Amino acid sequence: MKKFIQQVVETNDFQPLRLLNILREVQAKFRCISTEAIDILADLLSIERSQIISVIEFYSFFHLHPKGHFDILISDSITDHMMGKQSLINYLSNQLGVAIGKVRYDGLVSLENTSCTGMCDQGPAGLVNGYALTQLDKTKIDQIVDLINQKTPVSDWPKSFFSVADNIHKTDLLLSKQIRRGEALKVALKRGLTQTLEEINLSGLRGRGGAGFNTSMKWKFCSEEKTTERYVVCNADEGEPGTFKDRVLLNSYAHQVFEGMTLCAAIIGSKHGFLYLRAEYLHLYNQLQSVLQERHALGLLGKNIIQSTIEFDIEIRLGAGAYICGEESALIESLEGKPGIPRNRPPYPVVQGYLNKPTVVNNVETFLAAAKIAIIGGKQYSKLGTKKSNGTKLLSISGDCDRCGIYEYPFGISIRDILTDCGAKDVLGIQVGGPSGTFVCSQEFDRKISFEDLSTGGSFIIFNNQRNILDLVKNFTHFFAHESCGFCTPCRVGTALLKKQLDKIVDGHGSAGDVVVLEELCQLVKNYSHCGLGQTAANPILTTLQRYPEVYQQRLKDISYEPGFDLDASLNTARRLTHRNDAAAHLTQVEK
Ligand SMILES: Cc1cc2nc3c(=O)[nH]c(=O)nc-3n(C[C@H](O)[C@H](O)[C@H](O)COP(=O)(O)O)c2cc1C
Ligand code: SF4
Repeated sequence: MKKFIQQVVETNDFQPLRLLNILREVQAKFRCISTEAIDILADLLSIERSQIISVIEFYSFFHLHPKGHFDILISDSITDHMMGKQSLINYLSNQLGVAIGKVRYDGLVSLENTSCTGMCDQGPAGLVNGYALTQLDKTKIDQIVDLINQKTPVSDWPKSFFSVADNIHKTDLLLSKQIRRGEALKVALKRGLTQTLEEINLSGLRGRGGAGFNTSMKWKFCSEEKTTERYVVCNADEGEPGTFKDRVLLNSYAHQVFEGMTLCAAIIGSKHGFLYLRAEYLHLYNQLQSVLQERHALGLLGKNIIQSTIEFDIEIRLGAGAYICGEESALIESLEGKPGIPRNRPPYPVVQGYLNKPTVVNNVETFLAAAKIAIIGGKQYSKLGTKKSNGTKLLSISGDCDRCGIYEYPFGISIRDILTDCGAKDVLGIQVGGPSGTFVCSQEFDRKISFEDLSTGGSFIIFNNQRNILDLVKNFTHFFAHESCGFCTPCRVGTALLKKQLDKIVDGHGSAGDVVVLEELCQLVKNYSHCGLGQTAANPILTTLQRYPEVYQQRLKDISYEPGFDLDASLNTARRLTHRNDAAAHLTQVEK
């Protein structure tokens, strides 16, 4: 063991910053990171054992104790559930003879749920030893069980099990035509980098990762910091359930994404960039490395890019199963080999990011769009879209429709038009922007995708009238409780209490007073949490309580079923009557 770990640490330059990489390799060899391995690592890297243990415990994909030789994770996204995931995992568990969450007695196989794996257009999905499995059904599961019992290495399993389709159904400015390799950089260098930044400014490009911050301003702020060391980070963590557009961009448009990163580096004066790739997209890792090599060979990375003085390189770093690492400051912590706990902001990453140096963090789609803008110019780009939302947006459409997949639309497209395009009928509503976004009901289908109205990182999940809205609220609330990083009390305890309180109501054991408590908890988690995860974790409950009080009402025990029962009146009475402790004090008490 010592010899192997020594080699791994050596190839990672003895850098604690690469701790995630190192742990991944050690675990791949020994199926876990044991106490013995931790001791060796602590010694070789000259860091505390506790530092290593905190990282292992933080990330879902690292383990202190061995998993099975075949480690199977089944995606727990609401769309997987809609495609029959629960009965499939139960079936798999029975056929393999292993309980969910356990390792089989002989150590051959382990089975567990995992948060959305980014395959909502081709679920039910899962991972085996980290590699994506798609379109699971009983026939495939029977074959998988045989392969495991025969101890067939995953590399010898049928390739079709691992095929991941792009499912691009509608293209526009970005997807209809690939740019030529180096084209954006050549145009930018000819035009001048300052003028190219001005073109990005003219385009009005706003970040596509969710928050919509102006991209040219971000790049400008970073370039103005007084230092010679700056970093470019592409956020490919894509953990928001229902979002999978970045997966498709990295599969089929990686050159353009890397070109956008290189353009940013040239403009801000950076020599080093990272692609932070979620571990669930491990299947893309090797091909992305090949694209980087090709770009080196073409003189588009490395020294003297296109015979200029520009020098830039990109390193791919894998995550390890933590949704919070999509939050930019948590991502930076993770890049530094630490648990992905969001930092206090300000200072923002453009001022103090990776290694406390100015860092631009942008979404995959943002870099792709920037490369296009460098070629066509800002004015041309800004002709598409609405007043405050220029250009196009990629949507990842999943759920109840005929054609799940990727759709590119100019901003301003109505929900109604999208539903027609993807063949959605009898629609109850849509979750726009993932669990942290908004539930849009059938009366709101004239609303538009834009920063002015419905903004989204790309997730668009459709539910038909046969679905029960409480199933999705429950799934999302459980998701947040699972993904809370645990750093701050309002979110750590609050999301756990939200889950418990919601389950009580959904399971038919709640009263109107319980709904009041639920609402209170929502406000508390929303208003007092440290970062965006906690601040949005109550959205699924709050938005559905507002739009569909009757579905909660139907679940309340006893009085709820009486004819003429009025939830609003009852809630008001309960609010008056319920003696409410100060919520924060209440949480602290629960915590104790
Ligand atoms: C909990 C949480 C998860 C996030 N996940 C992602 C993600 O997976 N991808 C992403 O680009 N941005 C994500 N973001 C937003 C990032 O913090 C950041 O705003 C974004 O990467 C900036 O890039 P942009 O300006 O191009 O949008 C997340 C934010 C939060 C609070
Ligand atoms: S809000 Fe939640 S995810 Fe964010 S820092 Fe607090 S505990 Fe972590």
